[in-house]
Amino acid sequence: MFSRKKFENPYLQGNYAPVTSSLHQTELPCRGTLPADLNGLFVRNGPNPMTPPKASKHHWFVGDGMLHGIRFEQGRALWYRNQPVSANGSTANTHVIGHAGNLYALVEAGGAPVKVDDQLNSLDEPAFENTLPRGLSAHTKFEAATGSIHAMCYDFKRGYRLSYVEIGADNRLAQHKEIKLPSQSMVHDCALTENYILIFDLSITFSPSRLIRRYFPFAWNSKHQARIGLLHRKDLSQGITWFDIAPCYIFHAMNAFEDRAGRVILEAMRYERIFDQNKLGPFGEALPYPTRWTMDVGTRSVTEDQLDDRASEFPRVHPDLEGQETQFGYALGVGRDANALDFNQILKYHRRDDHVAVHQLAPSKMASEPVFVPKHDAKAEDEGYLMSYVFDQDKNTSELIVLDAQNVAAEPIACIELPQRVPFGFHGSWVPG
Ligand SMILES: [Fe+2]
Repeated sequence: MFSRKKFENPYLQGNYAPVTSSLHQTELPCRGTLPADLNGLFVRNGPNPMTPPKASKHHWFVGDGMLHGIRFEQGRALWYRNQPVSANGSTANTHVIGHAGNLYALVEAGGAPVKVDDQLNSLDEPAFENTLPRGLSAHTKFEAATGSIHAMCYDFKRGYRLSYVEIGADNRLAQHKEIKLPSQSMVHDCALTENYILIFDLSITFSPSRLIRRYFPFAWNSKHQARIGLLHRKDLSQGITWFDIAPCYIFHAMNAFEDRAGRVILEAMRYERIFDQNKLGPFGEALPYPTRWTMDVGTRSVTEDQLDDRASEFPRVHPDLEGQETQFGYALGVGRDANALDFNQILKYHRRDDHVAVHQLAPSKMASEPVFVPKHDAKAEDEGYLMSYVFDQDKNTSELIVLDAQNVAAEPIACIELPQRVPFGFHGSWVPG
């Protein structure tokens, strides 16, 4: 007798598996003491397939969006709830941001943003006052000086084109520019500086053959020259300055800025190879390492330096300092083995002295993207908190941990126990108020 072993997709197992219920709980057990100045919503998005997908082809990036949020008021966690994202044919699953008093779930590749209310219900209302030419992106960069958000948007159905979009503080399209590319590149993130928006035209492009075979339709492409483009966002009539770089992929920029010499510095998590043999998710081929690219517009030269030997992902900085040089960055450690990931460190990069502070979780625990929440009336850049959903494999439960960002190695100042586990997901925001 022959038995066929059932294929187990790692992105449907353990805490990658979806949750099936939408819960609302108001009495949340809390260990430690929540700071009295915490007023706002912590909310995070992630894929949560609502109908069982085909396990042999399911990719982590696919699946309906599910929001998990906790409302804070004067040192109390008022409620936890989770709600699926679904409106106007979009189940945006990748990010959730606050902008101009609104809450939006976001996705890339042409999917529409979904407006969400303060109870996390999806709304059948147009996003961004119906001013966008088409879908947005999963990642936007906030420019504190103007209150605008900026994004690079791709859509493989539109061919070799990218759109730069700025949405003003009035929640309306402020400017946009169409950009032609030589390939149908996957452009997950972007970065901002004082004068530029950075374009990541890297080594993953649309793969028709994977689409035909019903796999996630983007793959490593050695034939496509990886490059970073600088678009002058204050004068869109200027051409883009391109810098060819070694083959790689970047899902996430930690930050970018211009130094005193006018050079553009990008710090981001670099994958040496990805989506090549592995068709199901981002991990399994090479780990992501924090890397700095220094681009000199005058000489058209670029240098590349790995910043640390700890693999990490989901980088964040202070939300008002995107595009400016920061002293600190934060990220999720992803362990040392691409095939046996562990997310049980939260990292704080002290950029001035290359020191990395580590919050080490218990072996059974795995964290998610750490979001920096500035303290009310903070004086120092790192005066605030790091929030992260943490899954306990032994108990099959999740909690939200709150770390003191000035002392990340210490025990959490508070842990909020949640009524169900929160699957590993992608990105979230702290929305004050
Ligand atoms: Fe992302």
